[in-house]
Amino acid sequence: MKVDGRPYRSIWLDGDGRTVVVIDQTRLPHSFATRRLATVADAANAIRTMVVRGAPLIGATAAYGVALALADDAGDASLEDAIALLAGTRPTAVNLRWALEDLGRRLRPLPAGERAAAAYRRAGEICDEDVAINRAIGENGLALVERAAEGRQGPVNVLTHCNAGWLAAVDWGTALAPLYMAHDKGIPVHVWVDETRPRNQGAALTAWELASHGVPHTVIVDNAGGHLMQRGMVDLCITGTDRTTAHGDVCNKIGTYLKALAAGDNGVPFYVALPHPTIDWSLADGAETPIEQRDEDEVLTITGRDAAGQETTVALTPAGSRAANYAFDVTPARLVTALITDRGVCEASEQGLKGLFPERAEAASS
Ligand code: MRU
Repeated sequence: MKVDGRPYRSIWLDGDGRTVVVIDQTRLPHSFATRRLATVADAANAIRTMVVRGAPLIGATAAYGVALALADDAGDASLEDAIALLAGTRPTAVNLRWALEDLGRRLRPLPAGERAAAAYRRAGEICDEDVAINRAIGENGLALVERAAEGRQGPVNVLTHCNAGWLAAVDWGTALAPLYMAHDKGIPVHVWVDETRPRNQGAALTAWELASHGVPHTVIVDNAGGHLMQRGMVDLCITGTDRTTAHGDVCNKIGTYLKALAAGDNGVPFYVALPHPTIDWSLADGAETPIEQRDEDEVLTITGRDAAGQETTVALTPAGSRAANYAFDVTPARLVTALITDRGVCEASEQGLKGLFPERAEAASS
């Protein structure tokens, strides 16, 4: 995607062939800044503090994190320490585990002298594969938007939650890819953007992405979606996912479940866009998904830019109040109209996923 006319991915390798560069997502939407990751500790810290976030990008950053560790020391202990460090950064998005398992499996058998180059190569491939996967999700989801646009006067109104755009992936994004493609094709779309408290990935990141690409959108508070659906103002919902079970339950940013309930009650199709590395074939029941609990300060305070242009954090609650900060929830498969994957659109069920990914389902059960 382009920023000020220049094409960007959310992560890339610097010209020195060693340092990794990312967009600092904690600075958006007010400043566009990049951050250089020079060590595995930098990579782990960037994931933990959400300089990078979004399931696919967390996986890609972790892959480069392993490469950074091996560039310093390619021994067995260094490899295992890097994998353990990165695996402990965020618990919910399964792409992290997927990327680390992938690298570990490929690198362990190699002589130490070949490991760093192989790790950089594989991290680059994971990034390229993510772009291709998301392009395919976009094409598969585009058909759904086109169908919704048939015979309409105004734009197709799509509600999305959190940020599942190109910033959350390497490029294109998952939930937003079909919307970018529809917009580029001249199909009028308008996006209702859930602000997504407490970290406001919708208000800060999705709104910024859509504005940069010229896609009409309106930011709404997280509680507004149900009302809009009752009034017929939402034609379909599309969200991303951090982990989808083999039976089609979807774990995504906190609040996704409530949108799915409201969509079900109002007959609004609720789609979830997912790249195949986000499927956890080892889990059947979404209730088993580890749910990240984050610092209560994210709920108790809010950060923004004041009238003088200064970034500032203010308290929202009485001094003694405590907060709970569950970062994800699980939407049961029965509330998901369909899954939009890189191989096509399927029912959110074991049969649906097995139909599209027979070889992976079989490998997981053997
Ligand atoms: O806590 P975050 O910002 O990493 O959560 C991200 C989400 O919940 C996204 O919807 C999900 O990762 C899908 S991103 C393509």
